[in-house]
Amino acid sequence: MIIVFGSIGLDIVQSVRRLPRPGETVLTADYAMLPGGKGANQALAAARAGADVRFAASIGDDDFGRRAIINLETTGVNLDGIVHAARPTACATISVDSAGENQIVVSSGANLDTTAAQLNAGMGDLVLQQLEIPPTEIWAGIDRAASQGARTILNAAPFQSIPPASLAKLDVLIVNEVEAAMLAEDLGLDPAHPHQACIQVRDRFAMTVVLTLGGQGAVAFAPNVVLQASALPIQPMDTVGAGDAFVGAFVAAMGADRGIEDCLRWGSVAGGLTCLQPGAQDGVPDAAAIKERQGEIVIAPVS
Ligand code: RIB
Repeated sequence: MIIVFGSIGLDIVQSVRRLPRPGETVLTADYAMLPGGKGANQALAAARAGADVRFAASIGDDDFGRRAIINLETTGVNLDGIVHAARPTACATISVDSAGENQIVVSSGANLDTTAAQLNAGMGDLVLQQLEIPPTEIWAGIDRAASQGARTILNAAPFQSIPPASLAKLDVLIVNEVEAAMLAEDLGLDPAHPHQACIQVRDRFAMTVVLTLGGQGAVAFAPNVVLQASALPIQPMDTVGAGDAFVGAFVAAMGADRGIEDCLRWGSVAGGLTCLQPGAQDGVPDAAAIKERQGEIVIAPVS
């Protein structure tokens, strides 16, 4: 079982010709209200990739909350761990420009009411977290998952300082280049060399580090090998949620006991296909779609 412990919300997505500069107003005709939140997106991606998924999170007792869980419900994610909080459901405003570049502001709302007490795992489970709920609950969640015998995976997005004691309890850390540089700086490593920093984090905390590189693919810094995976050759129309789809499918492959190469393949295909449709969840592929395209991902060792 994969247990995702984290954020959920509703995304208000606006397509703009170009992103506004500070102090500038730009006009656009329409907007869409779509399910989102990194935790929910990752839970959905893992479930669509074929994993048994339980999601623990908080929503308000409101229309946004009901809309936010729709895709999780129809995909069969176990939502027993969702509680109704006093605060309203989280909401993100997302602007996407004509090149697919985006700008996101998240109002955390009910995500701030999420507590580690909602998280229950067992031996053999994988617990996946992100950094969109209160930090104390994230670190407590890592402690709880590790003490309950689960494998722990953290997607350090959006980045904030992670206590070394929590890093030491992780099996896998997934970061993009910006997050890798921020982590390096935070740990006193060289932010100008994210690959080197990932190797140092891997060695210092005895874990696997995965660095996602957008259109350049991803690199896994596993204990005995460093592997680079290419990205799926696609023309992106909206990259929102691509990182979440990578993480969810990568962890689904881990849960199915696939090797690190397949985990990278599954993550890369899911991340790529998600960019072909608007919003964070509509384009997230199922296992059949992933298997059909996984042969296009080239994996090569990095020396
Ligand atoms: O990673 C994309 C997600 O980040 C969006 O769905 C938005 O809700 C923000 O949390």
